[in-house]
Amino acid sequence: MTILLPAIRDNLVKKRLLILGGTGDAAELAVRASQIADIEVVSSLAGRTQQPFTPKTGTVRIGGFGGAAGLAAFLLVSAARPYGGYANGEDRPIDFLIDATHPFAAQISANAAVAAAECNVPFLMLVRPAWERVEGDRWIEVAGYSEAARALLGLSQRVFLTIGRQELAAFAGLDAIWFLMRAIDPPALNSPIPNGKLLLARGPFSLEDERQLLLEYQIDTIVSKNSGGGATYAKIVAARELGIPVVMVQRPPIPDVEQVADVAGAIAWLVKQL
Ligand SMILES: NC(=O)c1ccc[n+]([C@@H]2O[C@H](COP(=O)([O-])OP(=O)(O)OC[C@H]3O[C@@H](n4cnc5c(N)ncnc54)[C@H](OP(=O)(O)O)[C@@H]3O)[C@@H](O)[C@H]2O)c1
Repeated sequence: MTILLPAIRDNLVKKRLLILGGTGDAAELAVRASQIADIEVVSSLAGRTQQPFTPKTGTVRIGGFGGAAGLAAFLLVSAARPYGGYANGEDRPIDFLIDATHPFAAQISANAAVAAAECNVPFLMLVRPAWERVEGDRWIEVAGYSEAARALLGLSQRVFLTIGRQELAAFAGLDAIWFLMRAIDPPALNSPIPNGKLLLARGPFSLEDERQLLLEYQIDTIVSKNSGGGATYAKIVAARELGIPVVMVQRPPIPDVEQVADVAGAIAWLVKQL
């Protein structure tokens, strides 16, 4: 007869939730989901940033899965990875999948939808609402980064570029424009970056600081992704106050699956699944 230690026995009856993360919402969801007695949380990070939003609870694995097929294989076994190692040391399937990645992380979301359907794992996307234009906003809405770069021609001389470090190359050829670039981590070595100054910082940013930055660097245009959420919205408010146009990159399409707008909605979905 096998005698199971209480901690191991408890984990065996728990359902395993995989959260695709890399956002503040995902980290918060991991904490709140872990408080549900029947849930064991595994969080997954891409491993891009030097200081990621690492959940303070559950197991964390880091790195790509190897496309939709790799993610499907993980859903079926959820084998331990070098950065993780499960509390109970045991490899077993994922019961629920929640994609709480950034709205611009389109590839992982598409992969998740395919893998979840293939493995028949209940799947939810946590999609924070996009920012809506309000009175006083001078937005130029564009579909992508090259269109954003084209929109600056003849319009701008000093641009605040707040799209992160991965997409800077699209603006590198605009020699007549000076850029203030803000990113969490420095761009990859040898990747082309526009002429200007790089600021390394992570939100949330206050309205007062954003207003001050725009004035200090005499910014005449902002380029932003429509990320939604509160942490980086102050620059949009400051632009409105100062009458500065914002070239707003629209979100990429997302899979047509069940969605909620916030962490509370995701928790309610999870409880319903149990
Ligand atoms: N894009 C943004 O603006 C932005 C902003 C803030 C935070 N983030 C976070 O940074 C991460 C990477 O963003 P991205 O735009 O490069 O994503 P992406 O283009 O959708 O993903 C590219 C590849 O990175 C891997 N990946 C992405 N997220 C992952 C995760 N949570 N766990 C494991 N692998 C992951 C996958 O590799 P495999 O195909 O090998 O599985 C995926 O195919 C995301 O997790 C996102 O939440 C992104």
